[in-house]
Amino acid sequence: MRPYVILNAAMTLDGKIATKTGSSNISGKEDLERVHEIRKECDAIMVGIGTVLADDPRLTVHKIDAKPEDNPVRVVVDSRCRTPIDARITNADAKTIIAGANEYKHEFFKSERYETFKNRGVKFFWSGDERVDLPALMSYLHEEGIETLMLEGGATLNFSMIRAGLIDEIRICVAPMVVGGSNAKTFFDGEGFDLMDDAVKLELKDCYSLGKDLILTYEVLK
Ligand SMILES: NC(=O)c1ccc[n+]([C@@H]2O[C@H](COP(=O)([O-])OP(=O)(O)OC[C@H]3O[C@@H](n4cnc5c(N)ncnc54)[C@H](OP(=O)(O)O)[C@@H]3O)[C@@H](O)[C@H]2O)c1
Repeated sequence: MRPYVILNAAMTLDGKIATKTGSSNISGKEDLERVHEIRKECDAIMVGIGTVLADDPRLTVHKIDAKPEDNPVRVVVDSRCRTPIDARITNADAKTIIAGANEYKHEFFKSERYETFKNRGVKFFWSGDERVDLPALMSYLHEEGIETLMLEGGATLNFSMIRAGLIDEIRICVAPMVVGGSNAKTFFDGEGFDLMDDAVKLELKDCYSLGKDLILTYEVLK
């Protein structure tokens, strides 16, 4: 058993979720409010360590009316436990789980960050040898009572999650902007597939304008 997973992101028309320098302010005000509504509805929100290092997100519900208990559990997929000691994702606003890989856990146990995070109430889940085992992480989160999970990037984790068949729905905000750049992160990076026949197939379920942006909702076909 695993949570129902909604991948949400904002991209430019050319599929970039950040510029080549890491700038990622893409959504308009209305879209940010939509994102925070999804956060409020979900039991957990998950990002990769690349996103924590690039953006230092809080991953709380703070752009719409919300109570502290509306904040989802925050999950960071971080094999080597590189989450910085002052990362906002580990603050007291919500529960946090760091998912690491077994290879790195003993070294991490000796670090000051481990003690600090433990004292802040951060929980840890260990799986995989050198990289987090995403299906095992999903099962663990489900056992922890997480029925709905919002995946908020980034590009590498998005691809691993969809390749593993762990995404049910995609909600994408397409902003009317073009930034180019072969080194700019796209919606899905990772290894990629060799053939179009291997592509993960989607079905469009909804489509509407929101301010200047376009919101598309897709079901991931199994
Ligand atoms: N526009 C948007 O909606 C949006 C949303 C989120 C992020 N972003 C942007 O996306 C960029 C970050 O993306 P990113 O691709 O660099 O990083 P990412 O996808 O956030 O994190 C990737 C990292 O997760 C770790 N990981 C652990 N297990 C994994 C697994 N099984 N599969 C995949 N990754 C695993 C890996 O590092 P370890 O091996 O060290 O664990 C990997 O390098 C930032 O520029 C951010 O601004 C944009």
